[in-house]
Amino acid sequence: MTNEYELLDCGEGRRLESFQGIVIDRVAPQAKWPKKLSKEIWNTAQAKFIKTQGESLWELNPQCPENITLRLDDFLMKLRFSPQGQLGIYPEQNINWKWIIQQCKKKSKLKFPGNPLSRILNGFAYTGGSTLAALAGGKETLEMIHLDASKASINWTRDNLLLNHFDNLATSLVVEDMIKFMQREVNRGNRFNGLILDPPAFGRAKGGKTWKLQRDFPELMKLCTKLLQEENSFFVLSCHDPFYTKKDLKEMLSTIPAIKSKDIETLDLVIPSEKGNDLPNGITARWSSLK
Ligand SMILES: C[S@@+](CC[C@H](N)C(=O)[O-])C[C@H]1O[C@@H](n2cnc3c(N)ncnc32)[C@H](O)[C@@H]1O
Repeated sequence: MTNEYELLDCGEGRRLESFQGIVIDRVAPQAKWPKKLSKEIWNTAQAKFIKTQGESLWELNPQCPENITLRLDDFLMKLRFSPQGQLGIYPEQNINWKWIIQQCKKKSKLKFPGNPLSRILNGFAYTGGSTLAALAGGKETLEMIHLDASKASINWTRDNLLLNHFDNLATSLVVEDMIKFMQREVNRGNRFNGLILDPPAFGRAKGGKTWKLQRDFPELMKLCTKLLQEENSFFVLSCHDPFYTKKDLKEMLSTIPAIKSKDIETLDLVIPSEKGNDLPNGITARWSSLK
């Protein structure tokens, strides 16, 4: 990814990663195989997330900083030790971030008729990795809409925008339920040149509204059909729910008339490790009409 992030190893339900030289040991339920690296290497972790049935907590060495600024190839991300064991980044999305940057660089084609700016929606957007990628590629040619149901994620994204000096670009940060927001955009007649969606298996939005991928996926795709600009557009869909296969994601994208099945690319999202085990973490399907 960059020399400032490295997956050192994974196995036995754990992952060992180095962020800017800070070694962190956290959970990875999908890593069912034995660890590859020695106990001595795993013991170099400066921070460890412990999850038992009763409680979850981070154990930090006194030398471990509370925040880490991670330099990726194209932008910076602020990492923190969240109580849920997350750090504010899904490194397996790096392959999509590179692709989003390429799409958004195709500025002249990514024009919305009657609007000088291309409208891109990043939904279920968390701390903004894909939003930063789009802005790194398209800068002032984009109107970026970043949406997440969690206020904490939106505040974290604001910090990431400031860190990258992207706070002066046309970006709306929206705390809202995804379906509710999309229905409103359809009613307003709005459309998007780019859709970036990474829906979780389960979620909760304001007012206790629940999100269930297996229940809500068809409705999500129907709304996407109404919101995706037919020409000069792109769509990235990813998913970490093992219930879905790459073929399923491809079929979901194919429900949109503008998208021809043969033009859809599907990939496994995998974090490679040089000396340890690779970590598979989800799948993706993507399509672009920008050449
Ligand atoms: C898997 S994370 C997305 C990671 C992100 N794509 C990235 O690469 O950094 C899922 C996100 O969906 C959000 N979420 C859950 N339910 C939601 C809903 N109903 N509407 C909008 N966002 C929701 C969560 O708050 C969480 O930030």
